[in-house]
Amino acid sequence: EKGTYPHYMLKEIDEQPLVMRKIIQQYQGNENRLTINKEIVEAMNAADRIYIVAAGTSYHAGLVGKHYIEKMARIPVEVHVASEFAYNMPILSENPLFIFISQSGETADSRGVLVQVKELGHKALTITNVPGSTLSREADYTLLLHAGPEIAVASTKAYTAQIAVLSILAAVTAESKGINLEFDLIQELGIVANAMEVLCDAKEEMEEIAREYLSTTRNCFFIGRTLDFYVGLEGALKLKEISYIQAEGFAGGELKHGTIALIENGTPIIALATQEHVNLGIRGNVKEVVARGANPCIISMKGLEEEEDRYVLPTVNEMLTPLVSVIPLQLISYYAALHRDCDVDKPRNLAKSVTVE
Ligand code: F6R
Repeated sequence: EKGTYPHYMLKEIDEQPLVMRKIIQQYQGNENRLTINKEIVEAMNAADRIYIVAAGTSYHAGLVGKHYIEKMARIPVEVHVASEFAYNMPILSENPLFIFISQSGETADSRGVLVQVKELGHKALTITNVPGSTLSREADYTLLLHAGPEIAVASTKAYTAQIAVLSILAAVTAESKGINLEFDLIQELGIVANAMEVLCDAKEEMEEIAREYLSTTRNCFFIGRTLDFYVGLEGALKLKEISYIQAEGFAGGELKHGTIALIENGTPIIALATQEHVNLGIRGNVKEVVARGANPCIISMKGLEEEEDRYVLPTVNEMLTPLVSVIPLQLISYYAALHRDCDVDKPRNLAKSVTVE
């Protein structure tokens, strides 16, 4: 039930700190350590390459998951859109492991790929919010999101839950290989949960940003580098889905290769700047679009902030920033849709779970 909330989407955005704590608790074994089913860790370690297959928001979580698995566990990862993979299978490595990410566990495009790879005799892990769902039943292994039912069509808490579970999978696999991560993920995810709370309390600021930048615009672009780029893709999808504003996420460095032609006087650009090693680069990209008349809204992280920034996120571990930087984007989309009189929970042309190919 949505209780006192006007929309499920807002309720589900607000549940994210709680879901984060629930995930920490569910994946916490003895001695305050994170644990993952031994068979799954063995399957990770047996793989010479991991193929993540998903659609929509779950695909965007997969992009972040690749970063985690490669950086922490040092296993090469490819991320594929399910509907493309199904009809154009890439050359597979000798010992692949497939990870299907699906909130509902019912997405037909993803299931189509699962059926194909099972026929080839490969192992599959499903990361889903729904125990007993088709993708969970048909895969060899399942990891649950523990996010509680997600009702709003636009996915919010499932995205952050997917990223958190992927970070745990990567960290536990790394540890099993004797790789020292130099941080305690339980503690870092706890810091994330607290930061999420701060952001859920920043609704007025986010409503103001939505009003100022998005009330009447035709389009909006999200820019970022590395993890910020992936979060920008998700921010753009949220905005498209519920406010019908044409929105796109671009890698900051790609702008000059063509997309900068789209910038007109007043075009809103939401820039994420949470990654220290690319901070100079993204700041440069902001200058490039501002010189063409763009109206920039920079969201940075404490420690990297500059005077021009519109909102500064609380500091979290640099790898975990997607878990917090996406919340302002979810809220901005929510308020943009409200300001434009759109049906937030049931956007036009969309269904919660897409069970046709
Ligand atoms: C976006 C959204 C969709 C789903 C996609 C995959 O807000 O809801 O893009 O993420 O249809 O759905 P699942 O994760 O259930 O496979």
